[in-house]
Amino acid sequence: MMTILFFLLCSGCFHLTSAANRLRYFNLTNNISSAKKDNWYNARSECNNSRESLVTLYDEEDAKFFAKLVSDYKSLFWIGLHKSQKKNFTTWSNGDKLTLNDSNVNLTKGKQNCEAIEDRAWKHFNCSHRKHFMCQKGNKSILIESERNWCQALQYCRIHYTDLVSISDDQQNEELKKKSRKKSFWIGLLHDEWEWADESCSTYRKWGVSQPNHDFAATMDGNIHTANNIYHIICSKGSVRIKPIPHHSTWEEALIYCKTYHTRLLCIEDEDDQRAVEQWLDNYDFNNKETLWIGLRQSSLFGFWIWSDRTVNWHNWKNKIIPELSSSQCGVINATDYTWSEENCWNKHSFLCEEDIVYMDKY
Ligand SMILES: *[C@@H]1O[C@H](CO)[C@@H](O)[C@H](O)[C@H]1NC(C)=O
Ligand SMILES: *[C@@H]1O[C@H](CO)[C@@H](O)[C@H](O)[C@H]1NC(C)=O
Ligand SMILES: *[C@@H]1O[C@H](CO)[C@@H](O)[C@H](O)[C@H]1NC(C)=O
Ligand SMILES: *[C@@H]1O[C@H](CO)[C@@H](O)[C@H](O)[C@H]1NC(C)=O
Ligand SMILES: *[C@@H]1O[C@H](CO)[C@@H](O)[C@H](O)[C@H]1NC(C)=O
Ligand SMILES: *[C@@H]1O[C@H](CO)[C@@H](O)[C@H](O)[C@H]1NC(C)=O
Ligand SMILES: *[C@@H]1O[C@H](CO)[C@@H](O)[C@H](O)[C@H]1NC(C)=O
Ligand SMILES: *[C@@H]1O[C@H](CO)[C@@H](O)[C@H](O)[C@H]1NC(C)=O
Ligand SMILES: *[C@@H]1O[C@H](CO)[C@@H](O)[C@H](O)[C@H]1NC(C)=O
Repeated sequence: MMTILFFLLCSGCFHLTSAANRLRYFNLTNNISSAKKDNWYNARSECNNSRESLVTLYDEEDAKFFAKLVSDYKSLFWIGLHKSQKKNFTTWSNGDKLTLNDSNVNLTKGKQNCEAIEDRAWKHFNCSHRKHFMCQKGNKSILIESERNWCQALQYCRIHYTDLVSISDDQQNEELKKKSRKKSFWIGLLHDEWEWADESCSTYRKWGVSQPNHDFAATMDGNIHTANNIYHIICSKGSVRIKPIPHHSTWEEALIYCKTYHTRLLCIEDEDDQRAVEQWLDNYDFNNKETLWIGLRQSSLFGFWIWSDRTVNWHNWKNKIIPELSSSQCGVINATDYTWSEENCWNKHSFLCEEDIVYMDKY
């Protein structure tokens, strides 16, 4: 157990050096009457000018959070989803052209589909489904038997290998099909007529009734509008998203859960991170507003507090007092006043994971 924990700790908040605006934050003015409105294209460049982007939604929780965040406006907001200008809606995640098509399923207009090989055949699936997946590095393919949706699988392969596998010749295809006996795994093929303004990979779609029926851009109510309509603008920035997990778990269970299904247990490295977390705590309905585990842990050897793998510099401890060495060696955040405090690691709480956003435009 200790070795596993050590390994997990060592692969903690490794990219915190690129700190500023790490966690995704939504740039919403408090003053409703001064909030900007424009058409979709101007909205996109407005965000782009301040090095931000129109909002991408990643899952149902994200959408609920966003709806609450903008609910005071009682108005429509543009989101980043729009009809792709690409000629080919079917692309390998590594940018390769589709030269070999072994699919026998017709594409459905407007639908997002991800390809998997299952029992020796290529098949389309709902990209949000969790499956095993095949990564690639050089000419090696590596089957990862942990379940992730297609974008999360892509993210995992890009971190640990090179990409999801892309198939260009019959021999390789036959080898992979052999490996798929009684198995089913994602490959790097995506069919999608829609894309997000920041080109991030998101499998989330929630169209309004009978949508998408025409080819423009989307608002947060799930409907497609002509991009020339005028709606409110909201931008976001940051390349790591916050993911609340409602399972009551010990700190270590939380650590492992985040590593397995997302990227890591939440780290709060600076004021910007803290602000982004507060925005979530303000606008997300935790079934029980309470204390939540974050990636804070006290080193039993040295007594100082660490974010998985590095010492805590910026902090927001309750009453500004750094807890001394005690039996309570893990950290929680209070969802009401946002301060941090120490807790016994064996207590059970919901927790906050973070997930690195993966972009489609890597090449
Ligand atoms: C809100 O914005 C409007 C229009 O820009 C401005 O006239 C008003 O003074 C602002 N209110 C506050 C409280 O800042
Ligand atoms: C984002 O917020 C900053 C100030 O915090 C503001 O200057 C900028 O214009 C905002 N971006 C948009 C698109 O409103
Ligand atoms: C956004 O801004 C960057 C420069 O910061 C530019 O390279 C890029 O083309 C812009 N994208 C859009 C869609 O305007
Ligand atoms: C689009 O895909 C077809 C095969 O389906 C291919 O012949 C063509 O070159 C592709 N076009 C581009 C721009 O990649
Ligand atoms: C796919 O479309 C073609 C032509 O429209 C049709 O002949 C074929 O039966 C369809 N295949 C499936 C699996 O629906
Ligand atoms: C691949 O082949 C299937 C079956 O012939 C076809 O329905 C589908 O449109 C093809 N995909 C692409 C991207 O050409
Ligand atoms: C894909 O699956 C998700 C969750 O399993 C579901 O909410 C969504 O409606 C599905 N999408 C489609 C297009 O079937
Ligand atoms: C895989 O690549 C390596 C080096 O690039 C090469 O030596 C080896 O022969 C290749 N193997 C196959 C099966 O193509
Ligand atoms: C969280 O903070 C609020 C406000 O300071 C306080 O009333 C509450 O007791 C705190 N919750 C816990 C579990 O410490």
